[in-house]
Amino acid sequence: MKTRILISGGTGQMGRTLQEVLNREWPGSEVLALAHNQWDIADAEKGKEIFSSFRPDFVINTAAFTNVDLAEEQREAARRSNATGPAVLARLSNDFGTILIHYSTDYVFDGKKRTPYTETDAPAPVNYYGLTKWEGEKNIQQHTERYYIIRPAWIYSGYGRNFIRLVMDLARKNAVLRFINDQIGSPTSALDLARFTLFLMRERPGDYGIYHCSNLGEVSRFDQARAIVEILGLPVRVEPVLHTAFRQIAERPAYSVLSKEKIRRMFDWQVRPWRESLEHVLKTYYL
Ligand SMILES: NC(=O)c1ccc[n+]([C@@H]2O[C@H](COP(=O)([O-])OP(=O)(O)OC[C@H]3O[C@@H](n4cnc5c(N)ncnc54)[C@H](OP(=O)(O)O)[C@@H]3O)[C@@H](O)[C@H]2O)c1
Repeated sequence: MKTRILISGGTGQMGRTLQEVLNREWPGSEVLALAHNQWDIADAEKGKEIFSSFRPDFVINTAAFTNVDLAEEQREAARRSNATGPAVLARLSNDFGTILIHYSTDYVFDGKKRTPYTETDAPAPVNYYGLTKWEGEKNIQQHTERYYIIRPAWIYSGYGRNFIRLVMDLARKNAVLRFINDQIGSPTSALDLARFTLFLMRERPGDYGIYHCSNLGEVSRFDQARAIVEILGLPVRVEPVLHTAFRQIAERPAYSVLSKEKIRRMFDWQVRPWRESLEHVLKTYYL
């Protein structure tokens, strides 16, 4: 019998990338991916209908209100997607015997550390998006025992609105691009994250808990943009600026690099260096 996998947020970056990778790498899976307009994860009745008819073995929750600045202004909508939705999914997963896989974020941390954040570091979000994502994590832990919460950071992919597209769009209209170089993180290739997700589902049943997964290295948006420009050969100059040069509505952690030590130790999972993964995604989708 095929493993049934339900995906929420089916048209987002992770929703699309997971479908692509599942299609290619897990022929024994039957995937039902639903878009926001087909299934709002905070709608408990609709969720029950979908779980009752599809009977998923796994549900992968990629749905989230991901616009960090807008989340400051549209607080109710952000909480609904990031905190209420995960609670509903966790209750349904518990009732139907489904394993829940959920993506959280590096933005649960305050950025005051100067060494990579581990899974045991205490969250202390500095913006509303981070606060609602942390609430989502706690709601899941309260309502089901069978969960994997994976925290990535700065996801980019071949799909949707993402940092690569932003750089490409800006490069079409400007000769000089300015990017922040005093906020440091560890970017995540959606392809690498999808592969790690499949690994947990197939190879590590029962190893529930929280896991950090991003690429290796510590970079600013300036470093990342410069690498994109270099690899794509875009005819623009990239300059570093301090975050105070832009009016960012939401505060961001100054440092949110994630430690991958737990997944290396537990699973011998080696994440790829950030530039190697970036090159791979650029060559796969953009070149
Ligand atoms: N993107 C990043 O840099 C980043 C970094 C760290 C962690 N994460 C986390 O990783 C996960 C995947 O992110 P992503 O980049 O794939 O996000 P994305 O591209 O913004 O996709 C999110 C999807 O969720 C949908 N959605 C929002 N609220 C929903 C709801 N209540 N019910 C059903 N669908 C809903 C959105 O639909 P609409 O657009 O129609 O609303 C969108 O299709 C999220 O949990 C996010 O918080 C992302």
